[in-house]
Amino acid sequence: MRLLVSGGAGFIGAHVVFQALHAGHEVTVLDNLSSGCLNNLDKVKEDVRFIKADIRNVDVLHQAVSHIDIVYHLAASVGMQRSIDNPFLDSDINVMGTLNILEASRKHGVAKVVLASSAGILGESHQLPLSENHPKDPTSPYGVSKMAAEAMTLVYNRIYGLPTVALRYFNVYGPLQRFDAYGNVIPIFAQQILKQEPLNIYGDGGQTRDFVYVGDLARATVMAGTMDKALGVYNIGSGTSISINDLVHVMQDVFEGGVPVRYLPVKLGDVRHSLASIDRAITDLNYHVTTSLPDGLRHYRDWLLPQWEKGGTECVS
Ligand SMILES: NC(=O)c1ccc[n+]([C@@H]2O[C@H](COP(=O)([O-])OP(=O)(O)OC[C@H]3O[C@@H](n4cnc5c(N)ncnc54)[C@H](O)[C@@H]3O)[C@@H](O)[C@H]2O)c1
Repeated sequence: MRLLVSGGAGFIGAHVVFQALHAGHEVTVLDNLSSGCLNNLDKVKEDVRFIKADIRNVDVLHQAVSHIDIVYHLAASVGMQRSIDNPFLDSDINVMGTLNILEASRKHGVAKVVLASSAGILGESHQLPLSENHPKDPTSPYGVSKMAAEAMTLVYNRIYGLPTVALRYFNVYGPLQRFDAYGNVIPIFAQQILKQEPLNIYGDGGQTRDFVYVGDLARATVMAGTMDKALGVYNIGSGTSISINDLVHVMQDVFEGGVPVRYLPVKLGDVRHSLASIDRAITDLNYHVTTSLPDGLRHYRDWLLPQWEKGGTECVS
């Protein structure tokens, strides 16, 4: 099938591209390279059509989705802190950009749109594990924009009959995930250990997260597009959770670090507990969690260390 992956030069998008090619599909990537890196796609560059474009550019988007069977929409302004710093840009890309993708897909007869949604739309948990029916109460502009994107994606199915899926990703980690000022905890801890700096924990470290390995998540993402019965919302996590204090132990072990921990005040917008119920994905997407956290962290370390020794992770844009 002919697939389009928006945000395909990003961390998760690139893994979706690898899995889609592996499954024998034809892949086009559309990405403006604002946070993605062309070199993420180095190993498949001969096999992928790349369009450097913004999802807010409607003309290019319409051209790009004509003749496409399935659209995987991962392009987004990502991260809670980035959205707090710039809520207008966040909503412009995540809400209006998603609407552009949906409308272009509808007009050009795309068979299905799969959206990368986020567990960040849920807010504080009332009951664990978090099912797909858990109330939504986002704690950041990013959570709000992803919630709107998800709702719009589902409405396009209900009103226009465009088959759509929203995948609520939990905390994703793995190779290609770079450290940045808005980054996730695993790349931040990895860099702090490598620099022999103290690890900053916001709060008492008892908060828990569901970390899912990017390879497992990317496989589920491709399946969500290609399996006919996949429709609606699915959680994609590991179905297990770990406290940040315990994550520190596992990471110090995998990265052979012994750096001290520094406790800082809780960050605005941080939730206390997160754990995905993945039953629906197991049933409908044939989803399997194959990579444990220590194994996934070893894959991440094996990707990060050689670059670290050469001076850091390069991003070609
Ligand atoms: N990383 C996580 O833990 C996580 C968790 C939940 C949901 N998600 C979602 O998964 C998706 C991918 O996230 P990621 O972690 O790979 O981030 P990323 O920043 O690596 O990827 C986003 C990609 O989108 C591209 N992009 C951004 N704005 C664009 C625009 N206006 N037009 C075209 N391309 C644009 C970027 O250049 C980048 O390649 C996002 O939709 C994100 O909301 C990620």
